Amino acid sequence: MPPSLRAKITAVGTYVPPKLLTNADLERLVDTSDEWILTRTGISERHRVEPGMATSDMAAAAARDCLARRGLGPEAVEAILVATVTPDMLFPSTACLVQHKLGVPNCWGFDVLAACSGFLYALATGASLIAAGTHRRVLVIGADTMTSIIDYTDRATCVLFGDGAGAVLLEPSPVEEDLGLLDYIHQIEGFGGPSLYMPAGGSLHPASADTVARREHFVHQDGKAVFKYAVLKMFEICEAILKRNGVTAKDLDCFIPHQANLRIIQSTGERLGLDPKRTLVNINKFGNTTAATIPLGMHDAQEQGLLHPNALVLLAAVGAGYTCGAQLLRWAV
Ligand code: UT7
Repeated sequence: MPPSLRAKITAVGTYVPPKLLTNADLERLVDTSDEWILTRTGISERHRVEPGMATSDMAAAAARDCLARRGLGPEAVEAILVATVTPDMLFPSTACLVQHKLGVPNCWGFDVLAACSGFLYALATGASLIAAGTHRRVLVIGADTMTSIIDYTDRATCVLFGDGAGAVLLEPSPVEEDLGLLDYIHQIEGFGGPSLYMPAGGSLHPASADTVARREHFVHQDGKAVFKYAVLKMFEICEAILKRNGVTAKDLDCFIPHQANLRIIQSTGERLGLDPKRTLVNINKFGNTTAATIPLGMHDAQEQGLLHPNALVLLAAVGAGYTCGAQLLRWAV
């Protein structure tokens, strides 16, 4: 039986820590330049947490902002899904920590580990709970403290990432309203694992003095390989979802891509024939916040007037795994 419900986003909340890490700051740490970072990535600055602040703190702050904008208290939430690659610790899940920090009395939830595509995968999972008719309010959060796993002696990675969190509330919408998540295409291709990963700290290479000495608890990336894959895949998956739904780039009101590199965003937009004015770009001020880029992008798109009721929105991400995904939705609020 086709579902009679869809999930619509009824509020967006965000949190970024106030402290900035600018390109000038990085020039003092490694052999790099503002000019290189800006021209190769589009990043000017990123935010970073103070010691003691963890992913669950940012996630809870974004969730509070989201619920306040919807005018609801924590008791309204029935499930919490948190996309992150930087949980406070391997377990308990960040979802449990967020539930406790928010004081949600009766809910369940879990973490989604899919790197830069994590928020999309959590959004589709949360939307399925709504479409099944079993849940009426699901909180979906993307949050990452990337500065906790970055090697600030490695110029190839340390300039790219920042910290932040975003949260959305999903609620049901009758299919006849034609709002909310319309369709998604997701794909994982594990051959890309060695191109972007954190080598140690899991069951294969548990933490030891050796893994620390080898700097294996940090992000390791073959930037060129990931770039090549991302440029190809972002276009492919976006083109496929547009085609499957009988729409073209001209029908889109807003494109919110994962923010890993301005050149990847521009190449995708150009190949799709998208109006650059309808493409959300905020990488310059946040860098790559992994699972948080898309909800942070939703917030900025709202601020810029790119989102309005019935706006047709394309979301897309490619990241470690490899993971990738594209989603088409009609904005509800
Ligand atoms: O969100 C997760 C998915 N991740 C991505 O999508 C990232 C994809 N990759 C990229 O965005 C790009 O590959 C990077 C921004 C990481 C690198 O840009 P690139 O244009 O691919 O540069 P490259 O790695 O080919 O390096 C070019 C040169 C090298 O020097 P030589 O060998 O030409 O002398 C690097 O050593 O730039 C050098 N370089 C730097 N120079 C100054 C690398 N990092 C830096 C740096 N500052 N920070």
